[in-house]
Amino acid sequence: MTEITELIEKAQTTHSLKKDELVSVLNDNSANDILFKTADIVRKKYVGDEVHLRGLIEFSNICKCSCFYCGLRKDNPSVQRYRMTAEQIIELAQNAKDYGYKTVVLQSGEDAFFDTKKLCKIISSIKSLGLALTLSAGEKTYEEYKAYKQAGADRYLLRIETTDKNLYAKLHPSMSFENRVRCLKDLKTLGFEVGTGCLVGLPQQSDESLANDILFFKELDADMIGLGPFIPCPNTPLENEKGGTLIKALKVMALTRLLLPDINIPATTAMETLQPNGRILALQSGANVVMPDVTEQDCKQKYTIYPGKAGLNNTALDYKNSIVKNIESIGRTISEGYGFHNKIFGK
Ligand code: 5AD
Repeated sequence: MTEITELIEKAQTTHSLKKDELVSVLNDNSANDILFKTADIVRKKYVGDEVHLRGLIEFSNICKCSCFYCGLRKDNPSVQRYRMTAEQIIELAQNAKDYGYKTVVLQSGEDAFFDTKKLCKIISSIKSLGLALTLSAGEKTYEEYKAYKQAGADRYLLRIETTDKNLYAKLHPSMSFENRVRCLKDLKTLGFEVGTGCLVGLPQQSDESLANDILFFKELDADMIGLGPFIPCPNTPLENEKGGTLIKALKVMALTRLLLPDINIPATTAMETLQPNGRILALQSGANVVMPDVTEQDCKQKYTIYPGKAGLNNTALDYKNSIVKNIESIGRTISEGYGFHNKIFGK
């Protein structure tokens, strides 16, 4: 056994590694296959072979933020902006239900048009369809999050993006790391299932900073972790930077599975964008969730967080069917349940 395989085994049995141990595994590529296999074993042991599907509704691409990596940043004039009506959003949720989804994820830019009253009305209408509901609409106040919870929202996704405070400050003008952490803690306090995560391969991001990201996920006691490679996007300040690699993103994901064995981890679209079988590799390296887009084509094509997004030219139903086929082809099954976090470990 090498030092690296020993560390992987330690993570498999104790579900904990120190920062320098995480860095050693991230730095070394000699045992990647063993890392992915081990994450797959731990995934099977704690969350089983079922894959949870979540239907993603991208309901507005209007955003007041200017994150350097994101194609939807407000300073990108080349984006055709759209905002769905409440009726359109609810209709897409109904479609998702008809296609067999048990959860919908409502995602948008930070669009102030959807104030608490509007959003809560949409949330309660969707909840009355009998679906679980995940929101991903950015940084809000405690009171706003509380209102969403009372309206019936079950989960909230808000990636920390990076725990490197200097890098965070450079990439997020007019935003603060402290406020983002405050949001995540408020969401936890309010009883949401909380999803966070990071980008992998940002300029100047070190393995040490990725190790800190993983430790942050554990410290927060996250219920879900979504991460993916950074993909440079035209018309953003980072358009000419090098992007992240699929392998590095899979390694961060696999280590996250080893340290947080029972959480939900999506195989993300960004992974599939870098490599056609990226999602399948992710499902075989620790992931147990897929979030297919159920947004109609015209809007979906304008939700350009990064270029080349997988699944853009398929209808929602075709895309879902092809994902289901792929999932079943690797011996996994589609969950019939809501796929809540079944907590075994953690705080
Ligand atoms: N490449 C990959 N992922 C990105 N995101 C934003 N911009 C990019 C990009 N260029 C991710 C962020 C955000 C999520 C919705 O999309 O992590 O939280």
